[in-house]
Amino acid sequence: AKVRVKVPASTANLGPGFDSLGMALNLYAWIEMKASDRTEIQLYGDHMEQVPTDKSNLIYKVAQMVFAEAGVECPELEISVYSEIPLTRGLGSSASAIVGAMAAANRLIGSPLSDDKLFQMSSALEKHPDNVGASLFGGIITAYWDGSRAEYIRIEPRPNLEVLVAIPEFHLSTDKARKVLPEQVPLKDAVFNVSHTSLLVAALCSGRYDVIRHAMKDALHQPYRASLIPGMKTILDKATDYGALGVALSGAGPTLLALVDAESESRSELEHFLLSTLQGEGVPAQTMWLKPA
Ligand code: HSE
Repeated sequence: AKVRVKVPASTANLGPGFDSLGMALNLYAWIEMKASDRTEIQLYGDHMEQVPTDKSNLIYKVAQMVFAEAGVECPELEISVYSEIPLTRGLGSSASAIVGAMAAANRLIGSPLSDDKLFQMSSALEKHPDNVGASLFGGIITAYWDGSRAEYIRIEPRPNLEVLVAIPEFHLSTDKARKVLPEQVPLKDAVFNVSHTSLLVAALCSGRYDVIRHAMKDALHQPYRASLIPGMKTILDKATDYGALGVALSGAGPTLLALVDAESESRSELEHFLLSTLQGEGVPAQTMWLKPA
């Protein structure tokens, strides 16, 4: 039998919720998996030429982790992947590969592992639960992973929430974007983020869109990462003047993300502001209107 799963992209952090807030987005990857005599991996989509098609492929390796956990032997697999999620842009492509591989492999052997078990395994693999939690459960998730256990609560996004992303043409690895972060932060910056994240979660739950512009501010990662993305600081400082409810770096970047009220009348001004700011810094980019998934 062949199984097929569809898994959404995600954005992590939403500004202050570093490694702890995530939202699924309506860009998808589809993974098909089948037991076989010989492993064969086929990839479709942009930039897939960088992804290995032998047994070092992430989806293959993650599937084998699921089989090992379930005590099942299934060494050879036919896998095909079609993805519309841009790679290494801060839209959770690796998390969607991990979650999709886990869900497909688990289903292939009759779903012995619970969703919670898949969440524990994927969080441990990524070392932060924000992208994998969003890809696995959908909606907005608030989560932690403490090194041994992950917990989450899913928040249903309000229907009028839209997302505008500006995706720069260059790749930025999460590794590189984590290396610029300090090991230690001042207590006042920690307090800044605890208070802003709490406010943001409450605002997203209650629909208090008026506070999102303040609540999405961050002191833990964006100020350090701004040096990696020309134009980012201007966008974070000014996008709300052009009609965004709030603005943040998407995950580890380089994509920038604005939350927008679906009824907003300044959609094209905001889009133009994001693109022209990046272009003014010599960074070609593409915008996309997305929705929480
Ligand atoms: N929370 C992670 C980060 C997401 O900001 O580094 C990227 O994988």
